[in-house]
Order: sequence, then C-alpha cells, then structure tokens
Amino acid sequence: MSPFLLTRTLSDDSVDTALRADVRTGLTAVPKELPPRWFYDARGSALFDEITRLPEYYPTRAEREILIGRAARIAAVSGARTLVELGSGSSDKTRHLLDALTGLHTYVPVDVSESALRGAAGPLLAARPGLQVHALIADFTALTELPASPGPRLLAFLGGTIGNLLPAERARFLRSVRALLDPGDTLLLGTDLVKDERTLVRAYDDAAGVTAEFNKNVLQVLARELGADADPADFDHVALWDREHEWIEMRLRARTALTVKIPELGLAVPFEAGEEVRTEVSAKFRREGVRRELEDAGWEPVEWWTDSAGRFALSLARAVERPAP
Ligand code: SAH
Ligand code: AVI
Repeated sequence: MSPFLLTRTLSDDSVDTALRADVRTGLTAVPKELPPRWFYDARGSALFDEITRLPEYYPTRAEREILIGRAARIAAVSGARTLVELGSGSSDKTRHLLDALTGLHTYVPVDVSESALRGAAGPLLAARPGLQVHALIADFTALTELPASPGPRLLAFLGGTIGNLLPAERARFLRSVRALLDPGDTLLLGTDLVKDERTLVRAYDDAAGVTAEFNKNVLQVLARELGADADPADFDHVALWDREHEWIEMRLRARTALTVKIPELGLAVPFEAGEEVRTEVSAKFRREGVRRELEDAGWEPVEWWTDSAGRFALSLARAVERPAP
C-alpha cells in the first residue's frame, strides 16, 4: 500500500446539498445563524493557520505546551497503533504525538478541508516515511466507519474544536465517536477553559483583524458556491462572551439595512441595520463539565492536564466496555 491514501466520503453533491440546506435554514431562522463548518475552504483554512500564530490566540500555544510535556504518557497509556485525528487541519501539533507514538502503524487525519489534508501530508510523510497515512475528507459529526487499521486506536480531537459544537451536538458527537471504537481504545480531547472575558474576547477579535477576515470568509464561500451578493464590507465582525452559556459567539452584523440575494436558492434575505448572523460558538469548559460529558458518552476519564498558565486542558479518556444506551 502506498503510504498516502486519500478517501473522499463526501461527494461534491452531498457537500452542495448540505451547504444549501444549512444556508436556507440558517438565514431564514430568527435569529440568523450559519454553522462554522463553512468557514473552511482553502482560504479559510489558511486564515485559521494565521490565527494560530497571533499573539492574542493562546489556545494553540497552550495545547502545544501540554502535548510536548505529556506525549510520552499519552503514548504509554494508549499504546496506539492507529491515530485518528478529527478536524486535523494542518496536523502541525500532531507531530509531537507522532514522535512519541513509536509503535504507530497508521495515521488517519479527518477533515472537511481537502486543501488542509493535502497540505499536511507532505511534511508528515517527510518526517515519518514508514507511516501509513490514510486521510479522510469527511464530516466528523457524521462518521459511520473508520478505515481498517490495527488497534489499539487513539482518537484525537484537538484545538478545542469540540467547543464549536452546541451542547446537544457535543453529546451526540461524543457518543458517535465512542461507537466507532473498541473498549480500551482512547480519546485525547482538547478543551479551552473558562477564563477572564478580556483574554477571551481578544483571542477572537485580534488587533490585526485576521479573525474578522476569517469570519467574513463565510460570505465569500456563499458568493462563490451560491452566487450570494453579500459584500463583506457591509458587515462588521463581532466577538462577544456569553456569560450564561460560557461560550464566545462570533457574529456578522449588517452595517445598514440591506438584502442579500442568493440566486442559487431563489432566496432574498433581508437584514435590518445592526441585525446579526451567528457564525460560530466556541464553548469554554470547566473540569467537572468535561468529566460529566465524557462519562455520559461512554468514556472513562483517565488524565486531565492543563498548560502552566491553566488556560487550556487536554483530557485522556478510555472507551468503557458498554457505553450507556
Ligand atoms: N486541529 C487543528 C485545526 C483546528 S481548526 C488545530 O488544533 O489547530 C478546525 C478544523 O476542523 C479545520 O481544519 C476544519 O476544516 C475542520 N472542521 C470543521 N468542521 C468540520 C466537520 N464538521 N467535519 C470535519 N472537519 C471539520
Ligand atoms: C477551530 N476552533 C477551535 C477555533 C476556536 O477557537 O473556536 C476556531 C476559531 N474561530 C475564531 N478563531 C478561531
């Protein structure tokens, strides 16, 4: 087998159908919303990589610090021969795990972004020439099977991306990935932690305006894919802390009253001046909440580590024998 295989579980048609359904439902809802999945075309993936290097965006550096310190323990506990990574993006932090997982046979990066998966493959294969890399273009909330590969498996979901799912979606997601694995397999979960509002808001509203560009990129995706005439200059980037739900919300706020025409959907979407579309939630967690969500989904928490400043956590959990029905 060639060391790099790419499997497309999403046809262009199914992506198009999902985008149309999300845009029609989300932009005719009150209040308006769009799922964050649509940020990540090639430009969105590149902008996210730029975000990870911003001085205000601490999660990537904090998670890397934990990975560097704990990779050997993760390797020992998991004994992984296959590493599956959901929402793998550039796989940049993953190399700390790959270096420690000396018995690894196969790495399965899973992402909706083909450009991110292809971009990650070169450096990975150069660093680990013997490793089988089986990339999956897939929606991680709808995975029904994994490629055949030797166990035990370690499933990594890094970056705090679980926080981009709403609570009910998270519960479904954690159960669905448990169902993909065998008892004894492990989960490595990155979660950003609740902290002071100023630090949080700055991380999502940086001085250089990269996060604003990332947020507005969804309008360019709608323009390219559906002919939408939304002009990014007509919208402001908004990042706010929702104290009740303990999540950051990103929104796009119409500067004036306007109508966005979406010819491919036969839709005209009116906005009042100041009206907003929610484009992302990014939930921040506490240890007790993560423990409860893991246990409810059939995972036994084994380790909890934070970075030295206590900003971000990595949890290691083991798939229990019989998950709750
Ligand atoms: N894990 C990396 C990247 C995080 S960015 C890190 O920690 O830096 C989130 C990644 O998840 C992006 O690469 C994006 O394309 C991917 N993604 C977002 N929604 C997805 C979905 N529903 N299914 C699969 N991948 C998704
Ligand atoms: C991918 N995810 C964890 C990022 C986050 O922090 O919620 C996406 C992001 N949105 C704005 N900046 C980064």
